[in-house]
Amino acid sequence: MNANEQLRMPRRAFVRGLAALGLWPLTGAAGVASEPDIAPVAGSPQPSVAEDDPGYWPWIRQQFSIPPDEAYFNTGTLGACPRTVQDAVFDSMRDMEKAIAQYDYRPEHPEYIAGYRPQVELRKKAGGILNATAGEIALLQNATMGINFIANGLELKPGDEVLLTDQEHPGSMGPWDLRAKRQGIVVRKLPIPVPTPDPQTVVKIFTDAVGPRTKVIAVPHVTSRYGIVMPVRELCDLARARGVFTLVDGAQAVGQLRVDVKKIGCDAYACSPHKWLLAPPGNGLLYVREDREGDIWATLASAHWDDHEAPSGLFRLMQFGTGNAALLAGLDAALDFYLRVGPEKIERRTLALAESLRAGLNAIKGVSISSPLNPALAGAIVTYGVAGVTGSELMDELWKRKKYRVRAQGGSLVRQSVHFYNSPEEIDGTLEVVKSLAAK
Ligand SMILES: Cc1ncc(COP(=O)(O)O)c(C=O)c1O
Repeated sequence: MNANEQLRMPRRAFVRGLAALGLWPLTGAAGVASEPDIAPVAGSPQPSVAEDDPGYWPWIRQQFSIPPDEAYFNTGTLGACPRTVQDAVFDSMRDMEKAIAQYDYRPEHPEYIAGYRPQVELRKKAGGILNATAGEIALLQNATMGINFIANGLELKPGDEVLLTDQEHPGSMGPWDLRAKRQGIVVRKLPIPVPTPDPQTVVKIFTDAVGPRTKVIAVPHVTSRYGIVMPVRELCDLARARGVFTLVDGAQAVGQLRVDVKKIGCDAYACSPHKWLLAPPGNGLLYVREDREGDIWATLASAHWDDHEAPSGLFRLMQFGTGNAALLAGLDAALDFYLRVGPEKIERRTLALAESLRAGLNAIKGVSISSPLNPALAGAIVTYGVAGVTGSELMDELWKRKKYRVRAQGGSLVRQSVHFYNSPEEIDGTLEVVKSLAAK
């Protein structure tokens, strides 16, 4: 039995197994299974249920509030939060509102707001999934903020050159364009062919472009529109050999792929855990390698803006005034959920589902896939079109016929972001709709 067949099996036997293990409590005399929640397990990367159990992923799917007859394929815009994450946010706000009069601002009192304490434990947990230390992580609001902090914080002179791709999200392009307009740095957006044939092509484009004036290479880890998994390690090798600072935009990578910033070898890495890591919206992480920390001026300044002392590390980049502590409680719960299910398991399932979508689409006449087909560049975002159908029509047909939410990309394309909460049946359903539209 292959993995897909196992996933399609009824889950009664699995439920019994979970109950026997005490992982799925049975309630009431009739033994009706209650909806289980994954209890937060701090820091444990070990899944508690065998992956080959056919009921595992349907059980995971039940941890989300999306109605069972709907399917969500737009994680590239915003991830769906598991209920444990939602509860962490709501509980935090409710508890704070009840006990606000008790808040005496003494350091031993639990913090009711974000923005003033270094949050070392949470930064340690978040850093753990990237192979970074707490001091190398700043808790921000999104990737855009992290990218702005690097683009604005580096010492650059007029004429200094920054290399980007032509595939940037506005949030990874705007910060550099602003400096170009205001201070005369030179921003070059290198054209990446679509579909991108192989990693070597991308590396060659950067190798040919880098020159004596190049001070920064800033690239997405996974591109927004076509989901190209960029050869970031090779690009960072290339940059390091020439003394060029590297920033990787991991907004679409963290939670989809396992990310090791030390292996990538970048100087800075920004991401948005509210996408693939399924944290509540308004969470960002910025990593800066310990020995490059001193190269980044603060953009937003408050009490500790110039405090370079360990163990606070990048705490000085977290000085943007009062924030919502509930969002950090949600991030904490999202990290627990991710670690509990297992980064490796999540990546494997997500990529396998996306691959089955790509393969199915590739076999349909009239479908063109703009995302890479080469496995070395392919991830969980599949962008495609059907001849004679606009992106908006395709998006609407998938919703009308199946209640599947993908995102139109303008023109003739849709972007389908496949995550572990999607299923093989939903991939089949997508292909069925696309086939019927392509046959018209
Ligand atoms: C590659 C990439 N970078 C940056 C961003 C901006 O993310 P955020 O709005 O969370 O800052 C996005 C958002 O889709 C993205 O896809």
